[in-house]
Amino acid sequence: MRLEDSNSILVVDDDPYVLEAVSNLLREYGFEVIACKSGEEAISRLLGSNVSLVLTDIKMPGISGIELLAKIHDIKPQMPVILMTGYAELEMAINAVKKGAFDFVTKPYNPEYILHTIEKAKRYTELLRLEEDYKHRLEETVRKQTQQIFTLSREVIKRLTAVAEFRDTCGGAHVSRMGLYANKIAEFLNMPIEFVDAITYAASLHDIGKIGIPDKVLLKPGAFTPEEFEIMKAHTTIGHHILQGSSHHVLQMAASVALSHHERWDGTGYPRKLKGKDIPIEGRVVIICDQYDALMSKRPYKPALWHEEVVRIITEGDGRTLPGHFDSRVLNAFNQLAPTFKDIFEYHPD
Ligand SMILES: [Fe+2]
Ligand SMILES: [Fe+2]
Repeated sequence: MRLEDSNSILVVDDDPYVLEAVSNLLREYGFEVIACKSGEEAISRLLGSNVSLVLTDIKMPGISGIELLAKIHDIKPQMPVILMTGYAELEMAINAVKKGAFDFVTKPYNPEYILHTIEKAKRYTELLRLEEDYKHRLEETVRKQTQQIFTLSREVIKRLTAVAEFRDTCGGAHVSRMGLYANKIAEFLNMPIEFVDAITYAASLHDIGKIGIPDKVLLKPGAFTPEEFEIMKAHTTIGHHILQGSSHHVLQMAASVALSHHERWDGTGYPRKLKGKDIPIEGRVVIICDQYDALMSKRPYKPALWHEEVVRIITEGDGRTLPGHFDSRVLNAFNQLAPTFKDIFEYHPD
């Protein structure tokens, strides 16, 4: 709530003489005064006004100054309230300060002291307002920067994906389909939302390491020699090298995917020949997506296969691809989601 920056003071006293004298004094010093004869009147006048300070008698019939203080702070928590008190109620006034009154002045009042206390309260309010403005500006700056960083990181990831696409030999849309398949499997496995979100981007970067593979190997139309295959395998470690060490969770997962997306559940994969649950779950998800998409696609050395045939190869094996290559939970998810995989493939052609 904004603090009022006005010259308007609400004065409350049931004694008409004191009320008039204090009001006149303050008017003489340039303040706008709203004079009230009771706490009840004070509350109704306060609502909708731009009062910046309340000066109230402590002992009044009806709502007392102390009750008024509490009610004012319910409505305007930062409103400075100064109490006017006789010596008899000094202790009450001290307690009121403990309960949030700004200060008190004793009656019979000394005009200079009243003015001094009011000035003090106004300076205090000014400080509070500066602090509030500062906090507000700081929050706004942080919010804007967070938004910018978010947009920037998403954009950088998208552009990295474009780099991966540019160098990928699997056909234009393979990279984007990978994110869509992985998203579906992760959702099916009930992974946390952060995981689902991260793998959707990370899966598309699985082969980014191919940018480090020489053209004569990467673009070779025929089958690889064993030496060439060794060079080709390095796209996993190169990709990991490119992406590792980030503090961004999407890039952390992308680094892990790059390194682990050719590891097989039975330990026959590469580069580290990891087995079973030693392979990160994101790697276990991406390998099955990659396998499906590769079998569905036409390559220089192989024709495209029908969806049903591909599902059969993955779930039952064909001698080269074996169900033992995959985590059985992920394999089950793939099997359940097979129609969705088909849709993704068909709606995102190369
Ligand atoms: Fe790969
Ligand atoms: Fe791939």
